[in-house]
Parts: sequence; C-alpha cells; structure tokens
Amino acid sequence: MHASFLNRKSRRVLALVLVLASTAILAAGAASASAGHGHRGFGHSRASITSQPWGTADGTPVNLYTLDNGRGMTVTITNFGGIVQSINVPDRHGQVANVALGFSNLAGYVSDDYTTTASGETYFGAIIGRYANRIANGSFTLNGVTYYLNQNNGTNTLHGGAPVSQWNTKVWAATPISGRHSVSLELTYTDPAGTAARVPPMAPPAGNGFPGTVTAKVVYTLTQDDALRMDYTATTDAPTVINLTNHTYFNLAGEGSGGVQGQDLMINADSYTPVNANLIPEGGIVPVAGTPFDFRTAKPIGQDINSGDTQLVLAHGFDHNWVLNRSGSGLSLAARAYDPASGRVLTTWTTEPGVQFYSGNFLVGDLVGTSGHTYRQTDGFTLETQHYPDSPNQPNFPSVVLKPGQVYKNTIIFKFSVQK
Ligand code: GAL
Repeated sequence: MHASFLNRKSRRVLALVLVLASTAILAAGAASASAGHGHRGFGHSRASITSQPWGTADGTPVNLYTLDNGRGMTVTITNFGGIVQSINVPDRHGQVANVALGFSNLAGYVSDDYTTTASGETYFGAIIGRYANRIANGSFTLNGVTYYLNQNNGTNTLHGGAPVSQWNTKVWAATPISGRHSVSLELTYTDPAGTAARVPPMAPPAGNGFPGTVTAKVVYTLTQDDALRMDYTATTDAPTVINLTNHTYFNLAGEGSGGVQGQDLMINADSYTPVNANLIPEGGIVPVAGTPFDFRTAKPIGQDINSGDTQLVLAHGFDHNWVLNRSGSGLSLAARAYDPASGRVLTTWTTEPGVQFYSGNFLVGDLVGTSGHTYRQTDGFTLETQHYPDSPNQPNFPSVVLKPGQVYKNTIIFKFSVQK
C-alpha cells in the first residue's frame, strides 16, 4: 500500500516536472521569438491577440484586448467605445513608448465622458459616431424633415451629441480574429434611431435625434508592417447622415512627455475650411498657400501656431478640417508626422475627403494620463480623417447621407516607422 502510494506520488511529481519543463521550453521559444524582433521577416513573427477583464460599464463586462504583431508593436483596445488605449512602438534605437494619449483604467474613460472638467470631453482614442465633429445648431434637414439633436457643445451637436448618445460610450460586441499575418478585433454596435423631428423648445429629443437605426462594424487590424488599420462599415434602415472617425491623440515622443510643437507634420491638402466663432465651417474652401494652415511641406506643429492668425485665435490653435488632395476614391495619403528626437514616423491614409487636425487646444492640465502625467495644451494631436464638419447643413460639401441598401465604408490607416 505504502509503496504503491509513493509510486503514485512519484509518478505525479514526475508528471509535474515534465509539465514544468515543457512550459519552460514554450517560454524559451517565445523568448527567443521575441528576442528575434530585430529580424523583420514575416515568417518569424508570432502575432497574437489576448484579452483581460477591464471592469464593467452600465453593468456590461468590458475587456482590454492586446494586439501584438510579434515584431515589436502592440496596441491595446477596449470594447468600451472601441477606444485605442495605447499604441506601443519602437523609436530609432528600438526603445518602445506608448504614443497614444489615454487613461490607465476604464474609470478614467467613463469619467472623461460623464464628468464635467475644464478640459471637457477628450474622446481619447475612441470611435466617434454617429456624426464626427460639429453639426450647427443641433439640427439638419433631410428629405424635407428637420431633425433636432442633442446640443452638447454650445448650440452645436459635437461627436454624436450628449454622452449617452455617443458611440464612444457604448460597450461594443467584440470578436478577436487571428489571421495568418495579422490580428484583428471586430467590434459591432447597433445605434437606435432617435425620435422623429421635434420643434424647439421641446428639445432635447429622446435618444440621439438622428433618423434610422444604424448597424456599425469597426475592424481593427494590426499588420506585420506596423500599421493599425481600421475598417468601418455601416448600414441603415432609413435615410440618415453619418460621419465616423477615430479620435486618437498622438505624441510621437511618448504620451505624457510634453509638447508636440517640435514634431513635424505634413498634411496632403491644398485647402481647408475656415470656421466661425462656434467652430462651424463658414462654407468656403480656402487655399492654404500663404497661411499657417499650409502643411504641404512638413514643418514643426509649433512653427506657426502662435502666429496670431484669426482662425488660430478662434480655435485656440489648430482645430480645422483640411480638404485632402485625393487621387481616386480609394485609400489616399492624408498626413505624415515625424518626431526628430525619437525618429518615430506616423503616416495616415484614408478613404475620406477631409482630416481634422486638432492640436489638443482644450487640454488644460486637469487630466492625469496613462503614465501618471497631466496633459496640457499641445501635448498631443489628432488626425481625424472624416467628412467635413457640419456637412448635413452645407450643400457645397460632399454628401454624408446614407440610405437603406447602401453600405457606408471608411478605412483609416495609422502606420508607424522610424527615420534614422
Ligand atoms: C475635436 C474637435 C475639438 C474638440 C475635441 C474634443 O475633434 O475638433 O474642437 O471638441 O475634439 O475635445
């Protein structure tokens, strides 16, 4: 009896030793694979997507997903608002830094949406819907019916309206996908139609105020060539307006490391849409030549930001829509940013006609970011590729109407590289 018990026990010990040994071998394999990051051949990478519980929002569990391209770049994305929480990329010496502004936990994002702060709602990293940027006076007319929306930015509707209507406050259904050479996270959300047109002063409307129930899908893909690709599709059951984007703030030297004034920016645009005091386009499409808005040749973001130009005074910096030079209807180069200190380069392509370059003007140092540093004015910049602001009210801007039977499509690429 005693001998056979010992035998069983030693068998168990032996089994445990074997398990530990094989785990160590796997770990060693993984370590040697990651040690091979300098080796950029596709065949040697081990792309992966993992998830961890990240709390609950409105009683619904939320996850944080880590997409790893196995070649030194990782991106974390939460299905709360489809927020890109961090983008970790090497500099020219291989030093990795998180180049996306954000918060270290879910509470930070929820508080950003629902708590009034001097910085206002930042929308760090989020999917913006149903209409990115501003709609003047919170209303528009479609097929002869006037719709009234939530006014959450003075009299404007900004980034979808009241927080409860914004797509960045929703818990999206998430499906991780492992491809042969890439990893993806698919997010879906169905946005209910708001109430039918109502005449002020009965506003605010119930729900978001927009007509049509919209079914949206956003697929984030991290590629082998260090690109974060976002593919948006949407359909509607009634005619509506739609304008979607991603609201990541970048600091190519690393979030929380200070200002981006010394980082170079090129915007592939010959013209932009000047705004009024409510930051609503005045309707004109104006050449950038001879203005601080001329980023056709790369220049430091801070070079002209204090120039006293009326448009820069109105917006407290850059917060404008550039009309992109496009070739055809597919993906087209929108912008390129470069940090001379770290060598990090961000190149953005889009299928959309415009880009909102925003220099973080409203950040006033009352928000503590991911690494424990406060964010102040010009500590990050966004490149929100999208349709022009207030398009539903501006007949000379490209149409943002989506009808039943049509599929809205929008692709954004944020590709990282280094310049020696
Ligand atoms: C930007 C917008 C800014 C500001 C910011 C959020 O997209 O252009 O005016 O509202 O979002 O703070």
